[in-house]
Amino acid sequence: MTIEVIVLAAGRGTRMASSCPKVLHTLGGRSLLDHALNTAQALEPSHIHVVVGPENESLAEAQTRGTLIWHIQKERLGTGHAVELAMCAVHEPATVLVLYADMPLVRVDTLRALCAQAQDNRVVMLTACLDVADGFGRIIRDKTGAVTGIVEEADATVKQRAIREVNTGILVAPARRLGQWLAGVGNGNQQGERYLTDVVAMAVADEVDVVAHAVADLDESLGVNDKVQLAAAERALQRRQAHQLMQVGLTLRDPARFDLRGQVVFGSDCVIDINVVLEGLVELGERVTIGPHCQVRNARLGDDVVIHSNCVIDGVKVGAGAQIGPFARLRPGTDLAENVRVGNFVEIKKSQIGAETKVNHLAYIGDSDIGDAVNIGAGVITCNYDGVGKHKTVVGDGAFIGSNAQLVAPVTIGAGATIGAGSTIRQDAPSGKLTLTPGRQKTVSRWRRRRDDSQ
Ligand code: UD1
Ligand code: CA
Repeated sequence: MTIEVIVLAAGRGTRMASSCPKVLHTLGGRSLLDHALNTAQALEPSHIHVVVGPENESLAEAQTRGTLIWHIQKERLGTGHAVELAMCAVHEPATVLVLYADMPLVRVDTLRALCAQAQDNRVVMLTACLDVADGFGRIIRDKTGAVTGIVEEADATVKQRAIREVNTGILVAPARRLGQWLAGVGNGNQQGERYLTDVVAMAVADEVDVVAHAVADLDESLGVNDKVQLAAAERALQRRQAHQLMQVGLTLRDPARFDLRGQVVFGSDCVIDINVVLEGLVELGERVTIGPHCQVRNARLGDDVVIHSNCVIDGVKVGAGAQIGPFARLRPGTDLAENVRVGNFVEIKKSQIGAETKVNHLAYIGDSDIGDAVNIGAGVITCNYDGVGKHKTVVGDGAFIGSNAQLVAPVTIGAGATIGAGSTIRQDAPSGKLTLTPGRQKTVSRWRRRRDDSQ
């Protein structure tokens, strides 16, 4: 059986009260649309049709995923109309699976189970039994328990609103029949829209078998229509991800206080403390520890790395055994070799730092190439920016940069050089020698401190 998926993503998203189209809001760092497309692709259908609104036309043009066919729904006339648009490009013998882009947590396995029940003379819909069914279309059954249709909340009677069995929106139907039913769907309802859900009653009338398949996990039925639901879906996704990570061996001190907005790969015995946010691709070696309140994005942390609390790490490679923080900021293009120590209130940007080097307190290192076993004292600053361009600082192996020195780039400090505390180094400093810029110390003997005689 050939499956073609239609992803509906053209809704206005009025309830989001945002200038950003609903399907571009993010969940776990990826847009709702991206979630839906990934789910669709995992099913390996012959074609994926995506129906988007006119404001997303550029998105359609920018997308290069091979199997996608984009449809622009210029006027939002309802879910039935949106599916009908895509149906023009669907091949008749296929089975159609309709997905809503605002239902990001539905599982691939659930959809597989749904598709496995598809037959020529059958409609399969995904349903849920909820304690609070507000906002959902309700499943109507006759006295024998057979499904007779779906009624939208806006059109439901008080009695129908009491029904807890709801439509998730996801539906599997033979393309040929679906096309015929859609042609007959009108907009004579409270919302003046052409509802996809009307096809269920039509299928029943045509004596087509209608199967309601209930989701096992209610999180799967979470829809995103407003920001409260967006936050609820985000929590559910985070819960699910944390659960999966713990099951394969990641220690999370508190899964409820851990957020993954991307992907993490990790070796054995890694430990993540509370309130850590991982973004993009984060790769952890073995026995990596990340302390509380850290943000780590697109980073590779080697074996035995310890990130102490309150660090921000972005676009960085950290060698094995390095210790970072607390309160350190490592910016893109930073590459730390093994056993480097970076302490509190240190910022490093676009720099290579050699093995065993220490930058322990209150320093700024930018556009630099620092050798092995260098000691960078407290308060050292590379003056890398002259107001127009950025310049490089090079520090050779074993150099010792005294506290509060300023290295005015471009400048090179030779291997084994010592720079006196408080120096402003504007020219290259030779290897193995002490270089300093002394302001001569002076004592004023006749000076008196002012006194406050009023006290
Ligand atoms: C829909 C269902 C409802 C179900 C609920 C589950 C209909 C008529 N109702 O209601 O039975 O319980 O989902 O979440 O289908 N869209 C378009 N074009 C349109 C209108 C909508 O592409 O003209 C897209 C939206 O982007 C969204 C999806 O279709 O992804 C559902 O639309 P929405 O307006 O959110 O429908 P609900 O009121 O939630
Ligand atoms: Ca919805």
